[in-house]
Amino acid sequence: MNKERLINGLNQDLAHEYQAVIAYTVYAAEVAGPFRPTLRAFFLEEAADELKHAQMLADKISALGGVPTVEPAPVPQATSPRAMLEAVLAAETETIERYTTRMAQAEEAGELALVAQLHEMIVDEAHHKEEVAKTLEGFPE
Ligand SMILES: [Fe+2]
Ligand SMILES: [Fe+2]
Repeated sequence: MNKERLINGLNQDLAHEYQAVIAYTVYAAEVAGPFRPTLRAFFLEEAADELKHAQMLADKISALGGVPTVEPAPVPQATSPRAMLEAVLAAETETIERYTTRMAQAEEAGELALVAQLHEMIVDEAHHKEEVAKTLEGFPE
């Protein structure tokens, strides 16, 4: 029961990592204005991290006997650089909350290696979130 709940939760997490890869990839392509070079480099770097997270989750779901989802969570459309950063900040905040819940579930299921991996991903996502929050300070409308 614990394991089934964990696999379902990890599949939700995987769908959101796909969402993050898509959002960062599309935002890197579309971001315009004087901050494009900086924001594009930032989005590309994040996309690479999120892809690693997606692979880790898919591997774990499969190892636990589940089937990794092939469906991303819906990707928010954003046109202005500010809207992109706000969408990313909301997504990173939600992701940290989901991984905190998942860590507790992994612990209950006795999956200690997964607990460590989720811990590592929380560190990555917190870094993403903090960088975006700093970038948004005083960012033009
Ligand atoms: Fe991620
Ligand atoms: Fe992230």
